[in-house]
Amino acid sequence: MVVDSKIIKTGTPGLDELFAINGFKKNSSILVSGEPGAGKSILAMQFIYNGAKLYGEPGVFITSEQSVEKVRSLAKDLGMDFERYEESGLITIIKVPIARSSEIAPDKMRAAIKKAGVSRVALDSITPFEILATDIKDFRLKVMSLLEMLVRDNITLLVTAEKRKTDFESIEFSPEDFIFDGLIFMGRLRRAISFERVLSIIKMRGTDHSIKLHPVEISSTGLVVKPIED
Ligand SMILES: Nc1ncnc2c1ncn2[C@@H]1O[C@H](COP(=O)(O)OP(=O)(O)OP(=O)(O)O)[C@@H](O)[C@H]1O
Ligand SMILES: [Mg+2]
Repeated sequence: MVVDSKIIKTGTPGLDELFAINGFKKNSSILVSGEPGAGKSILAMQFIYNGAKLYGEPGVFITSEQSVEKVRSLAKDLGMDFERYEESGLITIIKVPIARSSEIAPDKMRAAIKKAGVSRVALDSITPFEILATDIKDFRLKVMSLLEMLVRDNITLLVTAEKRKTDFESIEFSPEDFIFDGLIFMGRLRRAISFERVLSIIKMRGTDHSIKLHPVEISSTGLVVKPIED
């Protein structure tokens, strides 16, 4: 199989083919934003896990909300054995402490990212930094400096964020949504007495992509993007 070195595949079934280039552009920054329980963290875990398992690409999973043990255990329940790849050195999980005006990328995290060969980083999630920021301008500067650092190091970054207003007709975009190269939105659609999980690519600089609402399913084997039924 010929692997295109300019493309980073998520490996999440049904997702890569929504982009004309069949994945993310290498060295891009993608924000996955959406409502609680939409699958943002699972998508971020799969980005790092599949990178290691399917493509042999070293990745760092940074959690700001859960302990490292919790990440491992949630992943395991979804069929992802992170420990196996932590042992072989392909995956590193870091818990980044959150405190008022704390750095999004403190030294410990920078050191892990700068480790030779890391090509993917997931940060789940950026929202606690925003909530606790003493100054919103300071928060945005920190986000931009994180993106600059990663671009310099040839890293593809996936960041998750909470979005409170998730009506697809009237999403309220925040300034962060404009800073990233890509924006993927995850939410729910009402279907009679139930809800359907959906994902939509709002933007991805440098490639054509689907602009449809794609159904998403989460089961004990992970998250998949389903084909749209006519
Ligand atoms: N082992 C599992 N088996 C089946 N479904 C699961 C499993 N683990 C999680 N889920 C589903 O995934 C949902 C949580 O997904 P995830 O943690 O990715 O959401 P999120 O978008 O990150 O939410 P939040 O904003 O609260 O962090 C759960 O509500 C549940 O429906
Ligand atoms: Mg989450």
